[in-house]
Amino acid sequence: MAAAASALCLARRLRPRLACGASRTAYAVCFPVVQLHMTGAAMRVSQEEFEKAKDQLKLLKVDPGNEVKLKLYALFKQATEGPCSSPKPSMLDFVKKAKWDAWNSLGSLSKDNARQKYVDLVLSLVSSEPSSKAKDTTSESKQGYETLQVTTTDNITKIMLNRPDKKNAITTQMYREIIQAVEEAAKDDSVITVVTGNGDYYCSGNDLNNFTNIPSGGIEKMAKDGAVLLEDFVSHFIDFPKPLIAVVNGPAVGISVTLLGLFDIVYATDRATFHTPFSELGQSPEGCSSYMFPKIMGLPKANEMLLFNRKVTAREACTWGLVTEVFPDKTFEKEVWIRLKAYANLPKNSLALSKQLIRGVEKEMLHKVNCQECERLKERWLSDECMNAVLKFFEKKSKL
Ligand code: COA
Repeated sequence: MAAAASALCLARRLRPRLACGASRTAYAVCFPVVQLHMTGAAMRVSQEEFEKAKDQLKLLKVDPGNEVKLKLYALFKQATEGPCSSPKPSMLDFVKKAKWDAWNSLGSLSKDNARQKYVDLVLSLVSSEPSSKAKDTTSESKQGYETLQVTTTDNITKIMLNRPDKKNAITTQMYREIIQAVEEAAKDDSVITVVTGNGDYYCSGNDLNNFTNIPSGGIEKMAKDGAVLLEDFVSHFIDFPKPLIAVVNGPAVGISVTLLGLFDIVYATDRATFHTPFSELGQSPEGCSSYMFPKIMGLPKANEMLLFNRKVTAREACTWGLVTEVFPDKTFEKEVWIRLKAYANLPKNSLALSKQLIRGVEKEMLHKVNCQECERLKERWLSDECMNAVLKFFEKKSKL
């Protein structure tokens, strides 16, 4: 306890006191490994370059961490005052002691060499920043996705379902791509992850064409593979380690609704509706909704949605607890993103660890529920009720 408290104290106190250049800019938590370009007896740096490095340090966006800050402090002191000659501080003054140790460890390094190393270190930090392009807040879409647009900007990874002409219906390929995007988002430097849809729909649920692409193993294989994929897909949401936010930009159907119980916040436009037409389709609930919906909204309302296909408005969904807040469609995107950007400036680790505490107790249960729901669906997908409902959808379409 005491050690942890003093480490925390050290971290806090070092930041403002490294006036030799540590930035006061808001820092992200992680920092790439620093490569020191120690050029030894290489060219000497001028006072001007030294001053410039000091200024560059102030502009760093990413916190270099205490170890590097101590190194910078020591090199700065050595470069400006020469070898450490002040008395060793008391063991109990952790901050002073750490700084003294760092400076003292440089021994008799000359002022010129210290200046050189200081400048080299600052340059390596500047070049390790998430790329000067990344400072531009419009980041490019990540490569490798055909059905999604995935971007990371301002500490937010946004996964946008991107089949607007099909109302963002989720094909098999899209399930796989979402799994991949969620896996990457879990590991990247972002603080929060957002799922949203492109176009007028958030998502129209499972693409019913998934039922018509029968593999060579027949319909049983299709159902089996589908259940395995679905279980894996939902598992990624159960285990997602960071705050996960749904920005529901329009109507939502099927699995895009049931999954919302696994999100930490759900913001919706007042144009959104929430529809889970499972019985109509001869199917059964998934996305852990058979457990989460009764827990969130109470059994009677969950039954109305999951058994009787009641389509609810955004305001109803908010009153029932499925949606966190509803915004007027006109100002939806603007209001929501202002808020999300502010959330994404909160300390990354604190948010992630708090989320894990809140969700952790339920994880085992959720995986069990997920497994049972997928088993049930595997049977349902082979049922006449389901097959007839899917045929009806395509018949209706062909008559239009
Ligand atoms: N599966 C397959 N195709 C879908 C789809 C889905 N879940 N949702 C939308 N589409 C397709 C439509 O077939 C249409 O394709 P087309 O342009 O080739 O004809 C296109 O997306 C646009 O949809 P459309 O039906 O013309 O738009 P709409 O505004 O009239 O209706 C929906 C939108 C979502 C209400 C309607 O498409 C629908 O009921 N889809 C099925 C929803 C569903 O049952 N999902 C599964 C839940 S478990």
